[in-house]
Amino acid sequence: MRKKIIIGNWKMFKTNTEAVDFIKAVESKLSIDKNTIAGIAVPFVMLSDAKKASKNLVISAQNCFYENEGAYTGEISIPMLQNIGIDYVVIGHSERRDIFKETDEMINKKNIALLKANITPILCCGESLETYESGKTIEWVKKQIEAAFKGISENDAKKVVIAYEPIWAIGTGKVATPEIAQNVCKEIRNMVKNIYNESVSHEILIQYGGSVKPENINEILNQSDIDGALVGGASLQVDSYLGLIK
Ligand code: PGA
Repeated sequence: MRKKIIIGNWKMFKTNTEAVDFIKAVESKLSIDKNTIAGIAVPFVMLSDAKKASKNLVISAQNCFYENEGAYTGEISIPMLQNIGIDYVVIGHSERRDIFKETDEMINKKNIALLKANITPILCCGESLETYESGKTIEWVKKQIEAAFKGISENDAKKVVIAYEPIWAIGTGKVATPEIAQNVCKEIRNMVKNIYNESVSHEILIQYGGSVKPENINEILNQSDIDGALVGGASLQVDSYLGLIK
């Protein structure tokens, strides 16, 4: 049976102090069963303290660079993250792709570098409203998935967590129906099967993201090809976060 993985994506919200307080408050009330991975992806400056404060929550970075060191002003390397014990990193979020012009090729390099360092990539993919409305979602996501897994072995591929996040549902309150989310996640599993094989496609974890809340998470997680959620807005408050995990 595949595990469930629920990760809060804090984006550019909160301070270090708020992050530590949040983790303490959540962990004092949280019980996570052994088949669930629960965590938060926090801004870089909070990673170290968040990691120290957390006992059971996974602490993920929201991005990384693929070179180990060098003249890359403003970037954070994988060895820096490893040094403070980070073992999950979100890559290819649509906000990184759109605002910071990250390409499929860069995301592939990050995916390769993270897997080499034994860190779990949470690889985001998803289409714009325009692509969705023109009926080209699967074609678009397939291109993103094929590019992201280029040069990655079967053994490493299973360790990637894929997050399907339709851009039109991110922060808009416009959640994809469970049927739409399930259908795309099923197609993504099929893409993984076509690149690798049945066993990889069966093992790989696929999350849905886009306006997930305590009120709608159950029907989303009940879908057979959806193994978890990447949650923005609803992961920022303690009660709402707890509502997502229980
Ligand atoms: P949202 O964000 O839950 O606020 O829609 C999801 C995400 O961008 O990961």
